[in-house]
Amino acid sequence: MSKNQSEYAKISAFAADEPEKFWADVAEKLSWTKRWDAVVGKAEGPIPRWFIGGELNACYNCVDRHVDDGFGDQIAIQYESPVTETARSLTFAELKDTTARLAGAMQARGVAKGDRIIIYMPNSPEAVIAMLACARIGAIHSVVFGGFAAKELAARIDDATPKLVIAASCGIEGAKILPYQPMLEEAYALADHEIDATIYWQREQAPAELDGTRALDWAKEVADAEPASCVSVAATDPLYILYTSGTTGQPKGIVRDTGGYLVALAWTMEGIYNCPPGDTYWAASDVGWVVGHSYIVYGPLLNRNTTVVFEGKPVGTPDAGIFWSIMAKHKVRSFFTAPTAIRAIKQIDPEGALAAGHDLSPLQAVYLAGERTDPSTLEWTENLLGKTVVDHWWQTETGWAICANPLGIEELPTKAGSTSVPMPGWNIECLDDDGAPVAANETGAIVAKLPLPPGAAPTLWNAEARYVEAYLDRYPGYYLSGDAGYIDEDGFVYVMTRTDDVINVAGHRLSSSAIEEVLAANPAVAECAVVGIYDSLKGQIPAGFVVLKAGEESDPATLEKQLILDVRTAIGPVAAFKQVHIVSKLPKTRSGKILRRNIRQIADKEEATIPATIEDLTVLDEYYDLFDHESGAT
Ligand code: COA
Ligand code: AMP
Repeated sequence: MSKNQSEYAKISAFAADEPEKFWADVAEKLSWTKRWDAVVGKAEGPIPRWFIGGELNACYNCVDRHVDDGFGDQIAIQYESPVTETARSLTFAELKDTTARLAGAMQARGVAKGDRIIIYMPNSPEAVIAMLACARIGAIHSVVFGGFAAKELAARIDDATPKLVIAASCGIEGAKILPYQPMLEEAYALADHEIDATIYWQREQAPAELDGTRALDWAKEVADAEPASCVSVAATDPLYILYTSGTTGQPKGIVRDTGGYLVALAWTMEGIYNCPPGDTYWAASDVGWVVGHSYIVYGPLLNRNTTVVFEGKPVGTPDAGIFWSIMAKHKVRSFFTAPTAIRAIKQIDPEGALAAGHDLSPLQAVYLAGERTDPSTLEWTENLLGKTVVDHWWQTETGWAICANPLGIEELPTKAGSTSVPMPGWNIECLDDDGAPVAANETGAIVAKLPLPPGAAPTLWNAEARYVEAYLDRYPGYYLSGDAGYIDEDGFVYVMTRTDDVINVAGHRLSSSAIEEVLAANPAVAECAVVGIYDSLKGQIPAGFVVLKAGEESDPATLEKQLILDVRTAIGPVAAFKQVHIVSKLPKTRSGKILRRNIRQIADKEEATIPATIEDLTVLDEYYDLFDHESGAT
């Protein structure tokens, strides 16, 4: 190791050369009820597992431990809900008490270790309590994002086969109140699996109808319950299942190990987020996404940070200054959001006037993820706040950042457009089609050499073969990220695009195939393609292209409206599907593969890279006309 090697390089080399020692040192910071037999090794499943034989409890580590250490009076959760015009806080002692009671209520209803529980709740302390209560008794939670429709919820119910559902009586989206009970009842009717009961956190904006047997009152359940104590689980037992979009309509149930995940998060709170215990951390995401799991709930609480739980939007609740005012109010040190949220603020308040007058001196850095941070958004944020902005890359599968600027170790130079460098434990390469590494600055498939570090998903729920096929088969010995990009001469990683049919809408991951399945089910449609096209706010939005069956005589405008409604009903408003074009043909190769990439390139007014195998070049003329794009093809 050279003497003037950077701290980052030293730590990366340590993690690469002595992974067992590196991760065991981090694991020592947690509380284990049984020490591990092996730090990493072969166990159940297709990839090596971490902390085999070890036992611990996630809720104990995130909550009780801090109370036991004398920090019961510290604020654990700061809830800021501009949509209800309320704010409240919970100490670690209060969080422990309510969590233990809800866990006790669940046990009284027969929930035991390994049972699955679906949580359908907006950002709120109650959502965090519900997740922790599951963890407390070793139940596996699966949080479903509120923007999904009943059909998507039903698919998750059938896959996870939960014993109970814990829900809010409603969500609030800006000025809209969304009652959840009708949506849940519709999902239950669609699903084959029967759940025992739903516990509703009643909200005055739209209370649920309770019957005391299948629809239960959270407040009563908690008041009547005996507090449950923490149940030890194996480090390799799942803490949660989180469904995400894959390349088919069927969502993938990402499984998260308990021990490795907590260890990885503990490292990130120092190494990446540089947020000492006692300070305030805010991830303006949603508990329904992986960022919410890792950095609204488990990461900050594990590290004894105060976590801000925000129920609102970056703009309109009430205005584009809400981020800055909450940061100032709670002296936020580390702030995490998606680039699209910053773009939304920038569109409304381009000069950042609403940040003026807020004391943001405690803020150390802003962290962005969920989609690539375009250089102009990065620069705007840096200029406005005068703070470091970190674009970091991760996936639901990984649970934490693959690449980032490790501010807690050493601040590396920011290179706009890059997600900085691989974090300890991640051995990242770019490969060509044949599996050979590409040269610096050349684009390839971004892969991670096995073993994956702790925290990364070891399998898919009920679908191990699908895990192997999706992530391991393409390049033996490597995890296929599904992203393409390049690594520059300094080792900085640039994540540019997906290599599959996944599209990224406002930092939300959607499957274009799932939308295609809905369009194709309409009796008027012969075939269709969905592509993610550029959008200045959301990064990408889905656009549908449909060819009608011969003789189909529906009014085009009515049909387009119906198709948009079909997608909203089947997938949910989160798909943001608002654009569909009726076309006479889809561009295809001679072997029948739809050239979605060419459609996207034309829509985005990029030069289209047309394969020699295209069946009929003239088909593209209609697309050039549609998007008013005159440039020819290469
Ligand atoms: N429950 C119910 N509906 C929801 C929902 C939820 N939890 N979240 C979103 N929706 C609905 C919205 O109301 C909207 O419906 P509409 O078509 O009737 O208007 C639709 O889904 C699309 O929502 P969204 O993508 O949030 O768009 P928006 O125009 O309301 O807001 C942004 C745009 C950029 C402000 C918003 O997307 C945003 O804050 N993005 C940040 C994303 C993020 O934090 N990602 C996590 C990764 S770190
Ligand atoms: P999700 O699983 O919903 O978190 O989405 C993961 C996908 O979002 C990744 O595979 C990338 O395609 C994209 N993504 C997330 N963060 C970044 C980033 N910082 N830069 C580029 N793409 C990103």
